[in-house]
Amino acid sequence: MIRVENVRKSFGQTPVLDGVDLTIAPGEVVSILGSSGSGKSTLIRCINGLERLSGGRIMVDEFDVSMPKELAEARKRSGTVFQLFNLYPHMTVLGNITLAPIEVLKKPRGEAEARARALLESVGLGGRADAYPAQLSGGQRQRVGICRALAMQPRYLLLDEVTSALDPEMTAEVLTILAKLAQDGTTMLFVTHEVEFARQISDRIVFLDKGKLLVDLPTKDFFDNSGGMAQPRVAQFLSKMRKD
Ligand SMILES: Nc1ncnc2c1ncn2[C@@H]1O[C@H](COP(=O)(O)OP(=O)(O)O)[C@@H](O)[C@H]1O
Ligand SMILES: [Mg+2]
Repeated sequence: MIRVENVRKSFGQTPVLDGVDLTIAPGEVVSILGSSGSGKSTLIRCINGLERLSGGRIMVDEFDVSMPKELAEARKRSGTVFQLFNLYPHMTVLGNITLAPIEVLKKPRGEAEARARALLESVGLGGRADAYPAQLSGGQRQRVGICRALAMQPRYLLLDEVTSALDPEMTAEVLTILAKLAQDGTTMLFVTHEVEFARQISDRIVFLDKGKLLVDLPTKDFFDNSGGMAQPRVAQFLSKMRKD
């Protein structure tokens, strides 16, 4: 279980997260929607321990991300894929995926490579293990990014707008992989602008607005006129998304 409790985060005087409460139970797929600047990436970075909290607490299972001694274990459990392709350019696809399992989890190289190859196969990149990131399309790089996160066998997968830099065809490639992961029971926290896709795969949808969690509802209720849509900010956001 990931538990975000009354989390506040400010940069200087500016509050970016303002008392956010959120839980993600094992097996759940939760999407985070919200306008640009609402604090979505900051929330993901806080869960990952990349930002120091200004207040509140985040627990990943029994590990508190604010406790230096617990952070490494918390991080191992929550694999993260970011918007930009942050693969190491000087390493092959296989090298990128096996680095952390070998260095952090101390897996034998053979075992790490076998798992990496199986993951690549599962995302349709079985033949690209020896390619360098620069030789791949954006969609292929994001699929490698997903494999790299999954190679750590995380309990939770955090995804921050992993398709927003991709063209529609590549977006579809990546979303297909994520839909399969969701079906397989992967626990996911999914920041996205892909509203229709979020609707298809999510158990719950939360809406962040200016650092506050305005809505946290089962997906069906989120899109209902008496549920999430009753919030003017949500209705406005969704109508804008549909026009774009
Ligand atoms: N390192 C930082 N320093 C100062 N301000 C930041 C920093 N990171 C994010 N912000 C600000 O926090 C707000 C929320 O940003 P972000 O979490 O990236 O939003 P989102 O992902 O929803 O677009 C924005 O106003 C952004 O400018
Ligand atoms: Mg963001």
